[in-house]
Amino acid sequence: MAILICGGAGYIGSNVNKLLSQQGYQTIVFDNLVYGHRELVKWGEFVEGDLNDYNAIDAVFKRWKIDAVFHFAAYAYVGESVKEPAKYYQNNVTCTLNLLEAMRTNGCNRIVFSSTCATYGVPSRVPITEDMPQNPINPYGATKLMVERIFKDYAVAYGLEFAVLRYFNAAGADPDGEIGEWHIPETHLIPLVLEAAGGKRSSVKVFGTDYPTRDGTCIRDYIHVYDLADAHLRALRYLEKGNPSDFFNLGNTLGTSVLEVIEAVKKVTGRSFEVEYCARRPGDPAELVGDSAKAQRILGWKPRYPQIEEIVSHAWKWYCKLAKD
Ligand SMILES: NC(=O)c1ccc[n+]([C@@H]2O[C@H](COP(=O)([O-])OP(=O)(O)OC[C@H]3O[C@@H](n4cnc5c(N)ncnc54)[C@H](O)[C@@H]3O)[C@@H](O)[C@H]2O)c1
Repeated sequence: MAILICGGAGYIGSNVNKLLSQQGYQTIVFDNLVYGHRELVKWGEFVEGDLNDYNAIDAVFKRWKIDAVFHFAAYAYVGESVKEPAKYYQNNVTCTLNLLEAMRTNGCNRIVFSSTCATYGVPSRVPITEDMPQNPINPYGATKLMVERIFKDYAVAYGLEFAVLRYFNAAGADPDGEIGEWHIPETHLIPLVLEAAGGKRSSVKVFGTDYPTRDGTCIRDYIHVYDLADAHLRALRYLEKGNPSDFFNLGNTLGTSVLEVIEAVKKVTGRSFEVEYCARRPGDPAELVGDSAKAQRILGWKPRYPQIEEIVSHAWKWYCKLAKD
């Protein structure tokens, strides 16, 4: 079984590559390395290429008999998507159309897609279930919702089989310490707080302390990258068994506040650092927590590392390795 992993040199894709390879799948990573790292592709084949280039992705399907595709390749900086929506619609939507066309032309009709909780926008209640309205509040979320819509239409017209996985906040690192989060620039909370603990930044900023939450700071749902990878494997097996295309939230349901993340980092690293309390940022909902009961019920998935200390300790191990190398 050959599996194509678009964006497999990135954070989540590289973890999925590791798990699939361990399970005996032949993997082919396709990535333009704009945000990915060649060093994270430690398993399978690697093709450096851009989904903007139809011939490049078509050539992959001509060279290998691809049974299924995992599609991680996208831009994912929310703020940038507001300033440069064209870049986001081009890379996240048009590139996906290229990929789907190459799949169709070459007789591959199975895909697992990285969607996001950003497609829900500001939810009317938490935890968020898959049937709640999707009203993204930024172009990034809109591009992902557009792809979800395209999949539905392609399923009807062309028989596309898909599993759309709506991740909450991916976090942590490979428990073996081989690969982990390596975003440049970094915008995610846990690595930023680790950078403060590691002395790479002088302080960490907390945006808003007057939200209607238990300690006044925003609450998010951090899901371990290993657990995300495990859900991808299960989604693939689900489709291989001929089950219907579907949409699944992937979160761990345990909301964690910004201050709780900071406390967990202090506890795990044994270090203290300066915390700056700032005004709220526009567009940050108070609480985003996912209900993943559907994935648990249908895919038989259950997060193995739900506790924030475990997530932070794996991320810290990876942070220290990156800082040393
Ligand atoms: N990290 C999160 O918390 C999170 C949450 C929700 C959804 N997602 C989605 O999950 C996916 C993976 O996220 P990540 O954190 O691993 O991001 P990442 O940036 O580490 O990985 C994305 C990879 O795609 C590659 N890429 C981008 N555009 C490409 C193109 N046109 N052609 C070829 N390769 C291209 C990049 O070089 C990068 O290696 C993304 O689609 C993202 O939107 C991530």
